[in-house]
Amino acid sequence: MEKLNAETIKVIDEIVARHKGKQGPVKLMLHDVQSKCGYIPFEAMLKIADACGVSVASVYGVVTFYSQFTTQPKGKHVINICMGTACYVKGAQQLMETLCEECDCKINETSKDGLFSIDATRCLGACGLAPVAIVDGKVHGNLTDPDTMRQLIRAIKVSE
Ligand code: FES
Repeated sequence: MEKLNAETIKVIDEIVARHKGKQGPVKLMLHDVQSKCGYIPFEAMLKIADACGVSVASVYGVVTFYSQFTTQPKGKHVINICMGTACYVKGAQQLMETLCEECDCKINETSKDGLFSIDATRCLGACGLAPVAIVDGKVHGNLTDPDTMRQLIRAIKVSE
């Protein structure tokens, strides 16, 4: 099991204490841990399972069921590319290749410099804007020209 620093453990403990006893606490706790830590450490799953009186396996089941949760630390900037049918037909694959090349990162991985994480996702429910990407929580649509994404990534690099 990975070794977390004291500050991260404190953050997790506070989240667990805040939601303990509420309705549906597991998902609330996981949501907050994901938001504060950027991922769900295994130790957080242990603490959540203990506080909620459920098995670690059931907490892990929730983590792996919802795509919003991840067990690996993410990069500073998270980019989701929709690979649903409408986006795929309109060039999501080419968009993804451009993104991977520009970020020097593979799909569903984080770049070595820790700056970018690229995730392929299912339909985001915005097919009218295909192809669609979400960059740091902001939706970008009509990305038929991969150069638009290239410029977006370069702007992020310059701002770092
Ligand atoms: S297929 Fe991409 S938003 Fe629906």
